[in-house]
This record gives sequence, structure tokens and C-alpha cells, in this order.
Amino acid sequence: MTAPLIRLATVDDVPLLCALGAATFRETYREISDPREVDDYADEHFTPERVAAWFRKPCACTLLAVAAGAPVGYAHLRHARVPACVADRKAIELSRLYLLGTAQGTGLGSAMMAAVLAQAAGLEARTVWLGAYDRNLRALAFYARHGFVRVGTHKFEFGGRTHADPVLTRPVVLTP
Ligand SMILES: CC(C)(COP(=O)(O)OP(=O)(O)OC[C@H]1O[C@@H](n2cnc3c(N)ncnc32)[C@H](O)[C@@H]1OP(=O)(O)O)[C@@H](O)C(=O)NCCC(=O)NCCS
Repeated sequence: MTAPLIRLATVDDVPLLCALGAATFRETYREISDPREVDDYADEHFTPERVAAWFRKPCACTLLAVAAGAPVGYAHLRHARVPACVADRKAIELSRLYLLGTAQGTGLGSAMMAAVLAQAAGLEARTVWLGAYDRNLRALAFYARHGFVRVGTHKFEFGGRTHADPVLTRPVVLTP
């Protein structure tokens, strides 16, 4: 694979992000969750209206990784309600970080994380938080390698049920 370029996404990328968002969500969760519920979530959350709304929020940004002209991954940072277990009440949420399977295990995830942290610093955040699925072991290991620690759980609506997903945080700048 040609070394991917990571760039800021714009509203012009909405169609591409809808397709990439739904494809990576399905790839990630169909094997570790109920496939029908995964498909329903993807159909509901990666519509042009929903994804276009990402670009209307202040202090949010979306990064896109492109290899040989084709999108292979994306990340989305936003200011959202901060779970009670996160001490920094101004923490920014890494709400999405997804690569196509073909782009995983290449170091691109780490490059995306570095780009995410640079954007978080630019948005003047001191802490990044995220919610993860507790059966997504590869992602949990990846976040642990990048200095995230579990601080509690938060509620996540999926498949008509409320789940208690692990909440992870890390400082934007790690101090030795
Ligand atoms: C989570 C995710 C972004 C992490 O990306 P990743 O590709 O697994 O992680 P990295 O980019 O750091 O790559 C690490 C692996 O690539 C290998 N690698 C190959 N070349 C590399 C390079 N130049 N630099 C770093 N690592 C490299 C490493 O040895 C490592 O292998 P290992 O996982 O077998 O130990 C990715 O797995 C993903 O998109 N998963 C699906 C979506 C998902 O679960 N998102 C999180 C939702 S909460």
C-alpha cells in the first residue's frame, strides 16, 4: 500500500465518509456483535444528514487517511457531554477512529493517533476521552499502547439496549 496521506476532511467528503464509516463499522463489529444490530446502527448513523452534522459543530474535526487516492480510514474528534468518570470536564471526545481491515497492522493507526492528538492540542484540549466496546480487544490493546487508561464506564445505546462501555482517557501531552 502506498504510504497514506492524513488530511482534514471537509463537508465535500460527506459521501465518502458515509461509505467509509458504514463499511468500517460493519467490518469491526459484525464478528463480535449481532450482525443485524450492527447493520441497523450503520444504516442509521452514516447517512449524509448525520455525517454532514459533524461539520456544523464548533471545536470538532474529522481526519481522513487516503492511500493511492482511496479513503482507508478516518477519525472524528468532538466536544460532547463528558462522562462523570472523566476528571477533566473540558476533555475532548475521540468519537471515531476506524481503518479498513486492509490498512490495519501497518502503523497507520499510530499515525492517525498522532494526528488526532495534534488536532486535540490545536483545539486547546488537555485530555482526550473515548468509549470503547469491551469485546473490541484489538482496539483496547491499541489504546493501552498509546497511554489510555480506563477510568469508568458510560452508557451507550446500541441494538435497542443500553450498554456500559469502558471509558478511556489520556492527557493530550504525556509527561514523563
Ligand atoms: C484501532 C486501530 C485504529 C488500530 O490500528 P492498528 O493498525 O491495529 O494499529 P497500528 O497502526 O499501531 O499498527 C500496529 C500493528 O502494525 C504493525 N506495524 C507494521 N508496520 C508498522 C509501522 N511502520 N509502525 C507501527 N506498527 C507497524 C505493528 O507490529 C502492530 O502489529 P500488532 O498489532 O500485531 O502488534 C485499528 O485496529 C482499527 O481501525 N480497528 C477497527 C476499528 C476500531 O476498532 N476502532 C476503535 C473503535 S473504539
